[in-house]
Amino acid sequence: MPRGTSPHMGALHRIVLSGFYKMKRSKGQIREREREMADLFHKQADDYAEARPSYPEELFQFIASKTPNHDLVWDVGTGSGQAANALAGIYKNVVATDTSQKQLDFAPKLPNIQYKCTPPTMTMDEVERIVAAQSSLDLVTIAQALHWFDLPTFYHQVKWLLKKPHGVIAAWCYTIPEVNDCVDTIFRPFYVDSKPYWDPARKLVDDKYRGIEFPFERVDDEVDHTGPLEFKTKRVMDLEGFFRYIRSWSAYQTAKEKGVELLRDDVVESFKRAWSEDGEDRKAVVFPVHLRIGKVGNFN
Ligand SMILES: C[S@@+](CC[C@H](N)C(=O)[O-])C[C@H]1O[C@@H](n2cnc3c(N)ncnc32)[C@H](O)[C@@H]1O
Repeated sequence: MPRGTSPHMGALHRIVLSGFYKMKRSKGQIREREREMADLFHKQADDYAEARPSYPEELFQFIASKTPNHDLVWDVGTGSGQAANALAGIYKNVVATDTSQKQLDFAPKLPNIQYKCTPPTMTMDEVERIVAAQSSLDLVTIAQALHWFDLPTFYHQVKWLLKKPHGVIAAWCYTIPEVNDCVDTIFRPFYVDSKPYWDPARKLVDDKYRGIEFPFERVDDEVDHTGPLEFKTKRVMDLEGFFRYIRSWSAYQTAKEKGVELLRDDVVESFKRAWSEDGEDRKAVVFPVHLRIGKVGNFN
């Protein structure tokens, strides 16, 4: 059973962060911002596929236990298919969409996953044509991507496509990795130094999705709120793999475009010293995962 956080925690965070989405923006500005967000992931697609963690089976089993049927899932912002791959083992069919064809090129091809490259914002017609018919989805999943979306538009489409009243939306993010005291001591200030190069939406991740707008009903009586619920995922990496994970950050790419190398020689040296401290080349790198989960209810 995942650990839950009280829905009353982080109320201030919620107010501040929801303000981010309530700023009055024109449709053109929203579309432009969505395109910028989508573009962040083209360039480092190979590092992304190689270095990012997948998610624990426990997470998928928990989510699947909340959907009465296991027919059709939409995995949005699927990237290189980290979640779609696992969902394909539980659900009959998976529609996995992303705005980056380059990301999709690295995704595992399975007979029951349809990968589709979409525009950052879809009209209702497009979403019905490309993704699924009205009220046909058992589940919508968004792994480490919800903070990039224009939420009001996206949520409207999710509610339209989910089966009523039990269709489920599950969105999760993971926060910074934990290795051991030596490496974490170098990593934490390094992450703070990278902050200027992250998009403001990254704050929603640092906040473990406590503050993200999430207008859905709790799924059942087992948990009395919509999360975040905590899981953990682990990936065994050597130091080069850890650097690849850092190079897969959108912030790394943004810094590079501004002429800043985040992995400077002195930083690399500090990581090398810290990594070699315990004499183990390969280490278990743990990523805390924070899940929001809810059902659509009776949406008209
Ligand atoms: C951080 S990656 C997450 C990838 C994968 N789901 C995972 O768990 O690692 C975010 C993904 O969202 C995609 N993306 C960004 N904006 C999008 C949008 N408006 N619609 C669909 N996908 C989008 C990006 O191309 C990228 O592949």
